Amino acid sequence: MNKITLPITSPMMKRQFTFGVATASFQIEGGIEHRLPCIWDTFCDTDGKIADSSNGKIACDHFNKWQDDVELISSLGVDAYRLSISWPRVIKQDGTLNEEGVSFYQNLIDGLNAKNIKVFATLYHWDLPQHLEDQGGWLNRETAYKFAQYVDLISKELGEKVHSYATFNEPFCSAFLGYEIGVHAPGKTGKANGRQAAHHILLAHGLAMPILQKNCPNSLNGIVLNFTPCYAASDSDADKQAAEYADQYINQWYIKPIMDGAYPSIIDKLGNDWAPDMQEGDLAIINCPVDFLGINYYTRLLYSAPTQDGEFYTEHDHLFPRTDIGWEIYPKALTELLVSLNSKYTLPPVYVTENGAAIADQMVDGIVQDTDRINYYNGHLNAVNDAITDGVNVVGYFAWSLMDNFEWAEGYLKRFGIVYVDYDTQVRTIKQSGLAYKDLITSRGE
Ligand code: FCB
Repeated sequence: MNKITLPITSPMMKRQFTFGVATASFQIEGGIEHRLPCIWDTFCDTDGKIADSSNGKIACDHFNKWQDDVELISSLGVDAYRLSISWPRVIKQDGTLNEEGVSFYQNLIDGLNAKNIKVFATLYHWDLPQHLEDQGGWLNRETAYKFAQYVDLISKELGEKVHSYATFNEPFCSAFLGYEIGVHAPGKTGKANGRQAAHHILLAHGLAMPILQKNCPNSLNGIVLNFTPCYAASDSDADKQAAEYADQYINQWYIKPIMDGAYPSIIDKLGNDWAPDMQEGDLAIINCPVDFLGINYYTRLLYSAPTQDGEFYTEHDHLFPRTDIGWEIYPKALTELLVSLNSKYTLPPVYVTENGAAIADQMVDGIVQDTDRINYYNGHLNAVNDAITDGVNVVGYFAWSLMDNFEWAEGYLKRFGIVYVDYDTQVRTIKQSGLAYKDLITSRGE
């Protein structure tokens, strides 16, 4: 199939539904000599951390090619572009603004707005300034206050030209992958570290929210969380319990404090060694109303009872079919996720802020026929539509990603773009999935 089709009666086929594409600063910008070093620069320089030993020094050279990229985004017919602001690009080591970095985003945002493209800016997509990591990074409570200062300065500069601010992208990844199992920067490990980093990131979110609401009251201010729905590997009570624990530990841990002002009950099983240090009032700060919730979804996982002391679950390998990064393709879990979050919490309007597939693309005669990616989008967009039919207030969807880019620990080996990037020439070519996405978007009625 070469098309993405939604039922003609779907609310997603109306212009008021927001369709966008997404990227993140470290993954596309390059231009590192114009900013402070960040934890991903350091991680890339550490042997064995990145699959192809690559780094973000050039990436998609978006720092220099941003004007062409604005044209490219506009040519896709999207309503919105989700980008991230690089903290180490806009703030200097003394905590004041780096005017050059601020101008870069000012120009980019003006360029997008001039094309009628709404800007969804994420204020932290994993590129913590290295000098803050040297002082403990997200294990240091002080970093949360540093983040709030940065948010105050940058949101005063960019103001309401930014349609929507997200404080964080995927706290789970920063905390769990970065500080608990160490496969992402800064590569620290240990349950206590992971839980502590998560708490400080959530605290930083809670401290930043009132600042955004004050500086940019007309912008939509919220957060982007990722979810990997947890399914029991069998009907046994032990496996169901394991899946429930996994869900609390990797998913609900990040949303429940924001929505309900409490951690999920698994916190009581962590004991003093692993539970995070908190101060009185922290949960009330985190439990601040958000204007929207961004949800990133790629795949699900299966769980069974733990086989080791001290563990809560055993995680299974992904089932098939899989994308090129090894993640199971299972659109139904996206519907079930949205419906279950909607029943557990009182949700604000929801945007699916990331969804997409890594495919081993081949360019033949200038064409990338990425049928598997088109099928992925077709399945998942229809899954979103099913959730809307079931009563979930989903108001937007962003494809990950606008273009192929630096895929973290996988380097440049995994391609998620709807636009192909030739890293030798930096030439961008819209893939067939990009054309299918454009077709869908431009075929919407009033
Ligand atoms: C998400 C990240 C994004 C991208 C996709 C594939 O976890 O937010 O930067 O790498 O995965």
